[in-house]
Amino acid sequence: MNITNKTVLITGGGSGIGFQIAKLLSEKNNTIIITGRSEARLKDAIAKLNNVSYLVADITKEDDVNKLVGYINEHHPKLDVLINNAGQAFMYELADQPAFENAGAEMLTNYLSPIRLIDKLLPVLKKQAEAAIVNVTSVLAIAPSHDVPTYSASKAALHSYTQALRLSLADTGVTVFELYPPLVDTEFSAEIGGSNGIPPKQVADELLEGLESDTYDIRVGFTAQFWDMHLKSPDEAFAMLNARERN
Ligand SMILES: NC(=O)c1ccc[n+]([C@@H]2O[C@H](COP(=O)([O-])OP(=O)(O)OC[C@H]3O[C@@H](n4cnc5c(N)ncnc54)[C@H](OP(=O)(O)O)[C@@H]3O)[C@@H](O)[C@H]2O)c1
Repeated sequence: MNITNKTVLITGGGSGIGFQIAKLLSEKNNTIIITGRSEARLKDAIAKLNNVSYLVADITKEDDVNKLVGYINEHHPKLDVLINNAGQAFMYELADQPAFENAGAEMLTNYLSPIRLIDKLLPVLKKQAEAAIVNVTSVLAIAPSHDVPTYSASKAALHSYTQALRLSLADTGVTVFELYPPLVDTEFSAEIGGSNGIPPKQVADELLEGLESDTYDIRVGFTAQFWDMHLKSPDEAFAMLNARERN
């Protein structure tokens, strides 16, 4: 797709991968709106960027989502691209503690909230000549890591939904992309050894290449190698992923 002169909404665009995407796409002459829960973080982000505005919204809260959708319909009715990037993860062992509460929070943030936002923004996206949805999953959508177990499951759920959505929207003007980062050096991943990960700018660069070349599954860096391993032997790929320290 052509990704200039578009209007793009990025959830969690105030830091990490979302911020780098906002930076890169704003430099390509797109109008960007970023959201997050912390106004201080969003203000700090937009001070470093051009052509970017923000709205404080927690994607897990229905009232905030309604406010966000109202804001888009009123101020950005030409919204072309929705990037579901905000995410949450808990690092723990299923052997050591109950999973239900962590799993519920992760499913709400990483799976149900992108679905609700897509439900509410599809009418506006369908009105555009060339629109897109990007769901940010993870290498862990392909196979789970035991130390972020229910996070991995939430990303696998988002991956599955994304495949079905792409097929269902195939005859509309809305193209569905999936961005699968490997370990990336952000605040989010600090606890799981994220300093060994790739810079978030690389994720933004590969997203841009994927959008421009209509590559619907954008497997960034190590994710592409892991995908090949998984195709050869899902069992061996799973074992290798979980043998690596703090994947
Ligand atoms: N870093 C990695 O190694 C890695 C690997 C694979 C996939 N990913 C995925 O990449 C995406 C971005 O992660 P990141 O590493 O860039 O993390 P990050 O730097 O922590 O950024 C996450 C952003 O999401 C926002 N956010 C979190 N919960 C939110 C909510 N309920 N409502 C609205 N905004 C919310 C945060 O802002 P506030 O706190 O202000 O709300 C923050 O700006 C996530 O979906 C993550 O699962 C990351």
